[in-house]
Amino acid sequence: MLNRREPETIKSGADREPPSMLLPITTDRLLLRRYHPADVRATHGYYGDPEVVRWVPWEPWTLDETEERVRRRCDRTTWEGPDSTLSLVVSHLDVLVGDICMWPTDYTMRVGEMGWAFDPEHQGRGFASEAVSAFIGTAFDVLGLHRVVAHVDPRNQASLRLCQRVGMTMEGQLRSHSLIKGEWVDTVLFGILATDVLGASLGP
Ligand SMILES: CC(C)(COP(=O)(O)OP(=O)(O)OC[C@H]1O[C@@H](n2cnc3c(N)ncnc32)[C@H](O)[C@@H]1OP(=O)(O)O)[C@@H](O)C(=O)NCCC(=O)NCCS
Repeated sequence: MLNRREPETIKSGADREPPSMLLPITTDRLLLRRYHPADVRATHGYYGDPEVVRWVPWEPWTLDETEERVRRRCDRTTWEGPDSTLSLVVSHLDVLVGDICMWPTDYTMRVGEMGWAFDPEHQGRGFASEAVSAFIGTAFDVLGLHRVVAHVDPRNQASLRLCQRVGMTMEGQLRSHSLIKGEWVDTVLFGILATDVLGASLGP
């Protein structure tokens, strides 16, 4: 679960810190940092695994695709406009264990949508919960976000549990919303508000 923070620590979206000031994010066990070109091998280790991409629209990445994706993630880790994305590697004791990302859903830059994937070798240890909680906390505290959401395939039990574990609320189920591996499936919408974490007295 997220820690309760003092309301005065929040900043508005207008004076949000650039990524250089928010990164890296550290937790008890983890470091959340930018991608490096050297992350291709570890990233391919799990994005090439059909089980890891089972509930997302794309197929397992080839090595060439992983190189291209990591290159793009190295280049585009910003929070500067509606097209930006914060793509972060999660490492534990210098071992890449997974990744998380967040992108703004509209021009306000105050609502962020999250995605994540962790190497099966390092799942089941609470790393994803720890990383997602820290990332959401930073999104509210440093970027001044108002709301963070996640879209989850209802068959993706591990992600449903993760959303609940980090304190997100299940807000509804969108019918036949996502085309996953050739099949239209429902999407479960999870959300968490800054006021859920920081207290109800915050202004807009
Ligand atoms: C979703 C995903 C990140 C969850 O990974 P995870 O390791 O199960 O998640 P957590 O970090 O929350 O770990 C929780 C598990 O670790 C266990 N655990 C062990 N030590 C722990 C600790 N110190 N703290 C918390 N949990 C701990 C928990 O009991 C829990 O097990 P359970 O789920 O069997 O109850 C992972 O399944 C994944 O990468 N899936 C593929 C990609 C994907 O589907 N992405 C989502 C698209 S929407």
